[in-house]
Amino acid sequence: MPVIDPWEFKEVKDYKELMEEFGIDDFSQYAKKLKGAPLEIKRKLVIGHKDFSKVYDCIGKKQEFAVLTGLMPSGVFHLGHMAVINQVIYYQKLGAKVYLLVADLEAQLTRGISQEEAKRIAIEEYLTNYIALGLKNKSLVFYFQTKGPKKVQEYMNLSKLASAKTTFNEVKTIYGEITPQKLISALTQTADILYPQLEGIKTTLTPVGFDQHPHASFTRDIAFRMGFSLPSFTFNKLLPGLQGINTKMSSSKPESYIALTDSEKTVSNKIKKYAFSGGKSTLEEHRKKGGNPDIDISYQYLKFFEEDDKKLEKIYNDYKSGKLLSGELKEIAIEKINKFLKEHQKKREKAKKLVSKFVLK
Ligand code: TRP
Repeated sequence: MPVIDPWEFKEVKDYKELMEEFGIDDFSQYAKKLKGAPLEIKRKLVIGHKDFSKVYDCIGKKQEFAVLTGLMPSGVFHLGHMAVINQVIYYQKLGAKVYLLVADLEAQLTRGISQEEAKRIAIEEYLTNYIALGLKNKSLVFYFQTKGPKKVQEYMNLSKLASAKTTFNEVKTIYGEITPQKLISALTQTADILYPQLEGIKTTLTPVGFDQHPHASFTRDIAFRMGFSLPSFTFNKLLPGLQGINTKMSSSKPESYIALTDSEKTVSNKIKKYAFSGGKSTLEEHRKKGGNPDIDISYQYLKFFEEDDKKLEKIYNDYKSGKLLSGELKEIAIEKINKFLKEHQKKREKAKKLVSKFVLK
């Protein structure tokens, strides 16, 4: 069994293969059925799930369910962070109660980030962008791991009691060699994910990046042994970094990401300079043989900004046939992303005034 390290995630070459190994189910059938879903779902960045049928039933029958996720406050908020929150916002619109937590304990234990710094990043980078993206303050529980949610004693106990339901052998099988700090973080995450059940909500969905899969399977095992109902998950591929399809956006490398606070000029420069191109090296060859949109980063980003299926398909075909050049494709991506960011940054300014309402509840 391959091991994913959620704290040092390396790029995945073959998601399909990993899904089979881990027994993750294909999300396509739901991607087709979910109306009004964000592009990350429609365009299959979200590829896998565990027990999504429970959530789908709740949506259909208008029954109570919760959507829950945690944010790691480790730096700049970039395009790679949008997949999870766009799903949360979508399910919130569909009537889900939202649990959102700041993984400040995990940040301190595994990355040495102080609680004050974690709080600042969580609010200025994450929460402000979340609100600008459409997160609402209704039926929302927002908390910090170090402070806990409302039933704080039960929450704190839950992470400790969970330890009795696993063994070092199991932990090693799932995570490989891990440190005590990482084990505590994993047990805390388990409590995060099961917590809504302490407030009486039976069906919960946690949308996460593929890198979080070990936590998902660990939590589901523990949930079963503690008599909780099994939490559902969706797994999304990570949006690649500018350097190529098998690289990642890393908050510590500005040349790898586009931040939601980047200026027009910065976006334009980064894409022109760094975005890996699937085009041919000479104009002549490109016209003759065409480019490869499947490995072209500008095209890969465009998929999550161009709403119009027809337009996107035309760009795909024109690039493949050689009619559209790399430079032209980059311009299309730059324009589309900048248009989104311009609107977003306006909303972000307004969001700054709303933040305190989310935090001080
Ligand atoms: N480990 C997650 C990350 O690195 C953060 C996290 C903590 C989380 N608790 C969670 C994610 C509960 C989902 C659900 O991003």
